[in-house]
Amino acid sequence: MKPDLRIKNKVFDFRNPTVLPSGFYGEKFEEMQEIYASGAGAITLKSIGPKPKQGHPNPIIVKCEHGTLNAVGLPTPGYKNMEEFWEKMNKRDFPLIASIYGTTIQEYAEVAEFVAGKKPEFIELNISCPNVENYGMPFGCDPKIASKIVEKVKEVSGKIPVLPKLTPQANEIGKVAKACEEAGADGITAINSVGPGMKINLKTRKPVLSFKKGGYTGAAIKPIAVRCVYDVYASVEIPIIGLGGVSNGEDAIELMLAGASAIGLGTVLYSRGKTCFNEIIKEIESWMQSNEISKLDEIKGKAHE
Ligand SMILES: Cc1cc2nc3c(=O)[nH]c(=O)nc-3n(C[C@H](O)[C@H](O)[C@H](O)COP(=O)(O)O)c2cc1C
Repeated sequence: MKPDLRIKNKVFDFRNPTVLPSGFYGEKFEEMQEIYASGAGAITLKSIGPKPKQGHPNPIIVKCEHGTLNAVGLPTPGYKNMEEFWEKMNKRDFPLIASIYGTTIQEYAEVAEFVAGKKPEFIELNISCPNVENYGMPFGCDPKIASKIVEKVKEVSGKIPVLPKLTPQANEIGKVAKACEEAGADGITAINSVGPGMKINLKTRKPVLSFKKGGYTGAAIKPIAVRCVYDVYASVEIPIIGLGGVSNGEDAIELMLAGASAIGLGTVLYSRGKTCFNEIIKEIESWMQSNEISKLDEIKGKAHE
C-alpha cells in the first residue's frame, strides 16, 4: 500500500508536504499554477513590501561550489499596486502563502492587513532576509521585535494563520520561535538564506554580486537548516515548514525527523527543474515504503526521542 503523504494538522491542510518557498516563481499566477500542477502542496509568493522598490542591479545570483549566493534586494511593486495580480489569484486552486515584509513594525501590520483582505490561506512574515540593509534581518534576530511584529500582524489578519519566517543568524532561534508562538504565531517557517556570504572574481578581483554580499542557499546550508528546525521543534508546539538545502527525498525526511511538517524546495529548482516536486514526493514515498512507514506523523520530530 502507498504511504499517506497528506498533511492535515490544526494549521496546515496540504495534499503533500512539499512547498514552493518565497523567491522562486512566486510572482506570476501562471507560473504558480504550473508549479502546483508539477506537484507542490502549497505555493508561497515572492515577498511583498510596503512601497514600490527596485531590486539590486545584475548580477543578483551566482552559483558557488555547493550552493547559490543571491542578493535580489526584495524588489516589489508595493502592495497597493498589484490589483491585476490579485484578480488573477482569485481563480487559484492552490493553498497560498502570502509572504510580506516591512521596514517597521507598523509597515508589517499595514501590508498584512491589506493582504489578509485577499484571503490567502497563510501570511508568512519575512523577518529574516539577509541581503538588504535595514530590511528584515534585525527583526528576526531579536525575540522581542519578532514577537512584536507577530502580535501587531495578528491584530489585523483575522482568522488567517500567520507564519513568521526565521533566520539562522539568530543567536538562539528556539527563543525567537517561542516568543513568536507566545505572540500568537500559528506556525513557523525556517530557514531563510544563510549569510551574507561573498564570491570574488579572480579576474576582476571584485565581488561578483552587484550588492557584493548575498544570502547563501542550496545543498551546503542543509545541516544548518536541520539544526534550526530541530531547535525550533524543541521550543514550540506549532507546526513548522522546514527548508534550506533540500535536494532530494532523503533530505526532506531528515528535516521531518528534526520536526518539520512540510518541506520547502527552493534552490533545488535550479538544478532539478519544476519536475522535482513530483520526483521528490516519489522519493519520500519510496523511503517510507522501504522503512515501513505509512504516515508522515510517524517520522515527524522522531530525532528528538
Ligand atoms: C533568488 C532567491 C530569492 C529569494 N527571495 C526570498 C523572498 O523574497 N522572501 C523570502 O522570505 N525568502 C526568499 N528567499 C529564501 C528562500 O525562500 C529560502 O528560504 C532559501 O532559499 C533556503 O531554501 P533553499 O536552500 O531550498 O533554497 C530567496 C532565495 C533565493 C535563492
